[in-house]
Amino acid sequence: MCGIVGYIGEREKKEFILNGLKELEYRGYDSAGLAVLKDGEITHFKAVGKLENLVEKTKNFKSEGFGLAIGHTRWATHGKPTELNAHPHLGEFSYVIHNGIIENYQELKKELQEKGVNFISQTDSEVIVHLFEENLKNGKEPFEAFEETIKLLKGAYAILLITKADPKKIFFAKNLVPLIVGKNDEDEIFFSSSDAPLIGFADEVIYLNDKDYGYAQKGEIALFSEGIKQETLFKPLNIGKLSAQKDGYRFFMEKEIYEQSAVSSETIMGRVAKDDIVLEDIEDDFFADIKEITICACGTSYHAALATSYLFERVSKIKTTVEIASEFRYKEPLLLKDTLFVVISQSGETADTLQALKMAKEAGLKTLSICNVDNSSIVRLSDKTLLTRAGIEKGVASTKAFTTQVLLLWILSLKLALLRGAIDKEYFHKERKIISKVPEVLKVDEKIHEKIRRLSKRYLHGHGFFFIGRDIFFPLALEGALKLKEISYLHAEGYPAGEMKHGPIALADSELFTVALMPKSLLYDKVKSNVEELSARDATILALSPLEFEIADDFIKTKGYDHPMLEFFEMSVIVQLLALEISVRLGNDVDMPRNLAKSVTVE
Ligand code: AGP
Repeated sequence: MCGIVGYIGEREKKEFILNGLKELEYRGYDSAGLAVLKDGEITHFKAVGKLENLVEKTKNFKSEGFGLAIGHTRWATHGKPTELNAHPHLGEFSYVIHNGIIENYQELKKELQEKGVNFISQTDSEVIVHLFEENLKNGKEPFEAFEETIKLLKGAYAILLITKADPKKIFFAKNLVPLIVGKNDEDEIFFSSSDAPLIGFADEVIYLNDKDYGYAQKGEIALFSEGIKQETLFKPLNIGKLSAQKDGYRFFMEKEIYEQSAVSSETIMGRVAKDDIVLEDIEDDFFADIKEITICACGTSYHAALATSYLFERVSKIKTTVEIASEFRYKEPLLLKDTLFVVISQSGETADTLQALKMAKEAGLKTLSICNVDNSSIVRLSDKTLLTRAGIEKGVASTKAFTTQVLLLWILSLKLALLRGAIDKEYFHKERKIISKVPEVLKVDEKIHEKIRRLSKRYLHGHGFFFIGRDIFFPLALEGALKLKEISYLHAEGYPAGEMKHGPIALADSELFTVALMPKSLLYDKVKSNVEELSARDATILALSPLEFEIADDFIKTKGYDHPMLEFFEMSVIVQLLALEISVRLGNDVDMPRNLAKSVTVE
């Protein structure tokens, strides 16, 4: 989703902004822009499409010496991806960049238009700069004018504004979407919507809270909330999260699939002890009096929730409900205090999940987040957090975040099972051994990858894919289908294998591709019958199984682990590679698929 960077100092500003935007590229965008304020003059550039277009446009522009700069990548929400709609948005003498959505922009725009203000874009963001200038014209001082502007905005925003009326300052504000202010001892000040652009530049940062706003100028960062000046409590920037490189892989997604083995060891490390599960600073008391679990998430994280809900019920013996965050928010849910509310999010910034978490907190529920990004909004808001430790994930199509989420929730299900006396030590010891095998199982088998590479050419057409499975393999079927549609743009659905006969089987013919997840350790015969029903209607079958299956048109033989979770992880890698190779053959942008954003910070 949109990315923001800002800078105050002596450095070559254009370079810092462009490099920062490059770091944010993986979030998804369709246009970009920057503005530099130096010696009282503002220069700006905008370009549609990839960042290279902005680089090209600015190639002869130099911005050395003291000054201010702001830069933005836009993921279109209001209005098409055009240069006019790209940020920064300009007034007569001020420029603004904005992430989020201004919900009341239409009313504000109408009022401004009635006063004769001319709008040139279709965006909601443009109202900010005009409101600011209107306040200035009404005699307010620049900071006062900014403060008044922020008060009028409803919705989500991270804003940076520069103006010739006060050419030494960047004005900033944050609500519901992230904004970070950083500094170093060379008197440089930085802004960004996530850590990555700041690494190597800022030493200390503040993760702004909702409704924070203020201004920054050389030697001063003034922070306010509801009109009251706040202390600026900087903390060291975590430089452990080094910017990800492709390391010889063709795509970040491919690298991240291959990394799953290594990062899963991190997920397990220190958590699975000889006789117990040890969950960082979460005391056993935290789980006392919990009668039910609700897990809330979006997209891939939702699939991780669905898969592990089987474990919470089957192993921990605790009633578990799974909710899609965007639905949960408006269904007026019954929130009972003895429910543990778990949110899952790779980014920790997904707007729907964050809002659902807020609702649960307000209702007084205990909240726990499963997240990959420390210090993200979701981590900061939840009572307790378990980090997946997958490392930065850049491919828009989530892979290692998914497997580490499932692994961590499996570990959590064992903790709850032990606490509730639902399993004995013997069962736990067996599971513990199985968990220690996960990193090995997640290693990509080069022969299988090669087979998938070859197979993929047969799956570039047709009228659709059905991924089918039962039990925990049904959510994996959903995830396999999501991966494929995200990066191949082919229609794919995940379905419970036993449900096909209740309707979708009507679609069966040779151009309907069925990817059948047929583990040997769980309901094999049941899935087999369902696949046979499809095959009898001439559907093309790609079967994933350790057991030979003669009627399959294509067959990927898995190793045949005895535990369903190990088969689950093995098949997870296979469906990810299948999506990857089909997308490569179709010539798509694997890491930054069309229309998608890595972290979805709007509703
Ligand atoms: C995954 O491949 C997707 N790009 C998407 O569904 C993602 O999982 C979803 O937007 C939720 O993101 P989060 O885990 O960062 O909250």
